[in-house]
Amino acid sequence: MEFYFKNNFLMGVASAATQIEGGDTDNNWLELWKEGGIKDGASPAVADDHWNRWEEDTRLMADMGIQISRFGIEWGRIVPEEGKVDRTAIEHYRSEIQLMLSLGIRPLLTIHHFSNPMWFEKKGGWLKRENNKYFLELVKIVVENFGDLVNEYITINEPNVYATNCYCFGQWYPRHNSLAETFTVMENFAYCHIKAYEMIHSMRKAKGYSDTKVGFANHLRPFDPKDPKNPAHVAEAKAAEWFFQRALTEAMTLGKFSIPLINHWGIKRGEYTDFNGINYYSRSTISGFADSVKENTPKNDLGWEIYPEGLIRCGAYLTGLLRRPLYITENGTCDNNDMFREKYLYDHLKAVSESPLPVERYYHWCFCDNWEWAEGQSARFGIVHVDYDTQKRTVKRSGQFFTEMIKNHGVTQKMYDEYVRDEVYKVR
Ligand code: BGC
Repeated sequence: MEFYFKNNFLMGVASAATQIEGGDTDNNWLELWKEGGIKDGASPAVADDHWNRWEEDTRLMADMGIQISRFGIEWGRIVPEEGKVDRTAIEHYRSEIQLMLSLGIRPLLTIHHFSNPMWFEKKGGWLKRENNKYFLELVKIVVENFGDLVNEYITINEPNVYATNCYCFGQWYPRHNSLAETFTVMENFAYCHIKAYEMIHSMRKAKGYSDTKVGFANHLRPFDPKDPKNPAHVAEAKAAEWFFQRALTEAMTLGKFSIPLINHWGIKRGEYTDFNGINYYSRSTISGFADSVKENTPKNDLGWEIYPEGLIRCGAYLTGLLRRPLYITENGTCDNNDMFREKYLYDHLKAVSESPLPVERYYHWCFCDNWEWAEGQSARFGIVHVDYDTQKRTVKRSGQFFTEMIKNHGVTQKMYDEYVRDEVYKVR
């Protein structure tokens, strides 16, 4: 039952600023909370108080052997008002990155992870083409101020999830229900990613750096027909997959815009990523236009199907589109009592290690339990437990397993016997 990672494989964790930092940042998430849009009423102003505990958290990462860390900056902290840069926020992030580096942890910086300052939202946010310049100004500020410390960047996290949750399903601020708007937002993300890709490369090159790597964190999931023999289900699954992820993936990766996305800017075909970043959680099972979950399969605490093979399927799709090193920029599960996370880790990492895919990195989502967007504090994804009353961190059993995996560059038989229990998945 043992398996080992490939030689150049690195393991670490991922996080997003809004989900861990806390503090009263005037952004779309505090706004959604004010409007009552968070299930358990938990405010993002609390989260993990990481803004004050970044040192303790970074040291804990190092103690656990974490090799790589994907982390994000909060746009509204760096640019609290249009045209104003907050130097204290810049210095704060610099100190955090410097500590990571001094502890031997390699940073991967996410520039946009679902969070916008309200001054940007009030101008129409990602819906307005004329607002793209504000994001590109942020990219410039980021590279000017962190470019000497960080060589690897994610421009945008899960543009498809953000666009659909905010503008199609109406669950996230500004809670719209428009397919046309959803595609407009996707187009703007594609344009911004490509411009940011070029900008980050040219800015760092001008300073003499040749080790820059830029990509985006792409949320991908297999879309399978509920009944594979039903041609309608088959066609609907294909359509859902195209509109949710494939059209946008091609636009962002290759500058290839196809229906429903329009290239308003005359962007040239090209290769706009240095690694294929993939955020993988689950699969969708389609009948009609309903997105549902396959029955009689293992589920996590949010009811998402646990389907390790899907990670390989999605990785193969990306690799076929453009061959690049694969970074699993997120993978993890909501397991509130840490009952099956070890098995989840084992199954996904084994699948990755045994596949021929060029996977080089694995960033587990996430390090500490954190504020899970509209779910608030009710969904725990961490390998470190957080007591939200005291902010005490406690390494979970899955966290110990994670450390052991890094140490042994895989899973030994002894580790398997100690940590992985087969009966733990809830099949529903
Ligand atoms: C997001 C994370 C989120 C995770 C679990 C991804 O969609 O990038 O921010 O916490 O999934 O839902």
